[in-house]
Amino acid sequence: MFNWAKQQIAYVAGTQEPVYGPSAVKSVAEEAEETPFTELQRENLAWLAMQSTCVETQIFYAYSQAGHVAFVEVIYSNVALHHSGLRTTCQFVCKLFYPKVGKPKSHLWTSTPLSNVELNDDNTSFFAGECEVELSEDSSFYTIKSSSDERAIVDLKVSRVGPGFRAGTSGSTYFGTDLKNPWGFMRHAFWPRCVSEGSITTKEKEIDFKDGHASFIHALQGMKPHHAAAKWNFLNFHGDKYSAIMMEFTTPASYGSTVVNVGCITTDDGIVVAGCNGTATHTDSKDDPVTGWQEPTEARYTWSGTDKDGKTVEGVIEGSLGDKIDCVDIMEEVPGFVKTIIAGAVGTRPYLYQFRPELTLKLKIGDEEVVEKGKMYAEATFIS
Ligand SMILES: *[C@@H]1O[C@H](CO)[C@@H](O)[C@H](O)[C@H]1NC(C)=O
Ligand SMILES: *[C@@H]1O[C@H](CO)[C@@H](O)[C@H](O)[C@H]1NC(C)=O
Repeated sequence: MFNWAKQQIAYVAGTQEPVYGPSAVKSVAEEAEETPFTELQRENLAWLAMQSTCVETQIFYAYSQAGHVAFVEVIYSNVALHHSGLRTTCQFVCKLFYPKVGKPKSHLWTSTPLSNVELNDDNTSFFAGECEVELSEDSSFYTIKSSSDERAIVDLKVSRVGPGFRAGTSGSTYFGTDLKNPWGFMRHAFWPRCVSEGSITTKEKEIDFKDGHASFIHALQGMKPHHAAAKWNFLNFHGDKYSAIMMEFTTPASYGSTVVNVGCITTDDGIVVAGCNGTATHTDSKDDPVTGWQEPTEARYTWSGTDKDGKTVEGVIEGSLGDKIDCVDIMEEVPGFVKTIIAGAVGTRPYLYQFRPELTLKLKIGDEEVVEKGKMYAEATFIS
């Protein structure tokens, strides 16, 4: 059978894809060899809201002064159903981790379907009845408001400090046997270093996010997510002077288990290093009888490249991940529509481990060495 036909069957039936090998993926790292990263323009933050199977999200990570870690997220998704065309669904998700880790009820999670979705004229702002995620006119901050679930009323402002970026020029990794006409892609845009203000109000109290650190990611999976990635790693670090972010995915074997790593280290004054030359390694792990996966217990994340003055930059965060703060059975927790996309795929048992490690960023810029403590949030996701 021709590859495109097999791909179409996999696409519609939700089955695993055939093995195309690494030649059917063009990593954004290829662009990054020449142009490690590109600063974002306003139009790069527009919702694509593709009219084909996709999952698109805007996610904000915020760290309160009191020690909470929260993420709030809008998910837009389309599923191509073979009987009845396209089904569009939107969801607002809020996850709040309380400062004291390890306690039984150490987090709050809400997930609410949204309806009457509208975008503004240039598609950078999202409105749906009880939820709004709006980019300011000068493109320097977002306001995120949601009263879609009374257990977590969100009223946050996330302001960019320094530029946003995407890896290479397009920020995209393309999938397909004819890469001039790819059948899928993954794209990420980042605001690595931001300041938060505002609050998340739970039934117990109003949690203040004033003067907190924050990050923002706009992610687009222009294909079935479990076809694009079998594994993910994510790390977000904020110190007084430096912030670091890393997003790494490994494609399924059908695309040669190709690793795509996008990362950045930044200060208030701008990006120190960004691009695709990072690594994420689980340096130790243990059997998790519940999930069947190897739960990481120690990890090492590295960034490397050159800064704007041509100095060599090497960054590393490594050590114990500490006790996990949660392990999410993605099939239980994800909104129904993502389940629809993933369901039926053979060998797919997605679990997401979440951590709040207490580690330091070690940085070498030319001859200068820096060690910085900070707040950190990490994820390890296993899909297939
Ligand atoms: C916004 O999205 C709509 C629908 O996808 C599209 O037709 C329009 O061209 C977009 N506008 C801009 C300014 O990109
Ligand atoms: C990334 O690493 C490769 C191999 O070590 C090196 O050749 C390349 O110059 C690096 N790219 C950047 C942008 O630092």
